[in-house]
Amino acid sequence: TSVTTPASSTGSRTFRTIGVIGLGTMGAGIGEVFARNGFDVIGVEVGEEALERGRQHLEHSTSRAVKRGKMTEEEQAELIGRITFSTSLKDLHDADFVVEAVVESLEVKKEIFRQLDEIVAPDAILATNTSSLSVTEISTANSRPGRVIGVHFFNPAPVQNLVEIVRTVVTEPDVLADVQELVGTLGKNPVVCGDKAGFIANTLLFGYLNHAVAMYEGHYASREDIDAAMRFGCGYPMGPLALLDLIGLDTAYEILDTMYKQGRDRLHAPAPLLKQYVTAGLLGRKSGRGFYTYEAPDSPVVV
Ligand code: NAI
Repeated sequence: TSVTTPASSTGSRTFRTIGVIGLGTMGAGIGEVFARNGFDVIGVEVGEEALERGRQHLEHSTSRAVKRGKMTEEEQAELIGRITFSTSLKDLHDADFVVEAVVESLEVKKEIFRQLDEIVAPDAILATNTSSLSVTEISTANSRPGRVIGVHFFNPAPVQNLVEIVRTVVTEPDVLADVQELVGTLGKNPVVCGDKAGFIANTLLFGYLNHAVAMYEGHYASREDIDAAMRFGCGYPMGPLALLDLIGLDTAYEILDTMYKQGRDRLHAPAPLLKQYVTAGLLGRKSGRGFYTYEAPDSPVVV
C-alpha cells in the first residue's frame, strides 16, 4: 500500500515504508498509527524479548480498538500484517521515513543516528520522538542533519491527536513540509516549533503546573481550592495539583528542571516544595502520597 502526499510548493514525495526504532510505550503506538493508515512499518528492537513485548503491546492495543468498535477484526489483521519486526537496524534500508523512539538517552540516540547514515537512502527523513533532548544535537550524529527532524507524539499515540514537529536551525524546508503533510495523513494535528525542551504543549503546561505549586507553597490558597478553581472556572478535567500527582512529582520535577536548564525561563525553575516532596519520597499516586493521599490508585483521599 502506498500513500502519496499531495503536491506542495516546497516539497512533495511518496512515503511508503516507515521504520520505527524502539517498540516501547511510544514506538509500539507510533507503529500502530502508521500501519493503521496504510503504511508498511518495520519495527526494530534491541533483542527478541523486547521485540516480543512490542508485538504484544501492538496486539493488545489493536484488540482494545476492536472491542471498542473502532476497527473490525479484519482491519486489525490487515494492520498487523503491514508490520514486520526485526532486531537489526539494517532492515531499515528501504525506509523513506524513520522514527526513533528508544530510551531518552543522548548517547543511545546519537549512536542510532550515526548507524542509520550507512543504512538508509540519502533522501530518507530521520525523526526522533525525544521529549527533552536536543534534536539539533541528535542530528549532528548523522552526516545529513538537514534531513533530521523531531516528531513528538503524545501518549498514547493512537489516541492523542497532537504531533509537535520540531525543526532545528538546519532542517531543510522541504523536509519540514513533507513531514507536516505526512503527519496530516495520519489524521493528527501537526504543529511546528523550534528545538527547545518542552516544545509548545509542555512548555505552557508545566509552567502552569509549577505556578500552582508555588501558589500552594506560599499558602495563598488550599490545594482543593487551587484545583477547584481550574476545574470549575476553566473547565479543565483535573486541577493542577491532582494532575501533578498523576504525572508523578519526580517526573514533573525532571521535566521542569530540563526545561529550566535549556530555556532559562524562570517559569520553569522548579518550585522548592516540589523538590522537597520528591526528596521525601512523596511522588504522587504511584507512591500513595503527593499533594493528596491515595488509598487505592484512583481515589484521592483528603488527609
Ligand atoms: P520505553 O522505555 O517504553 O521504550 C523504549 C524502547 O526502546 C524499549 O522497548 C527498549 O527496548 C528500546 N530500545 C532501547 N535501545 C534501543 C536500541 N538501541 N534499538 C532499538 N530499540 C531500543 O520508552 P518510551 O516511553 O516509549 O519513550 C521513548 C521515547 O519517546 C523517549 O525519547 C521519550 O522521551 C519519548 N516520549 C515519551 C512519552 C511518554 O509519555 N512515555 C511521550 C512522548 C515522547
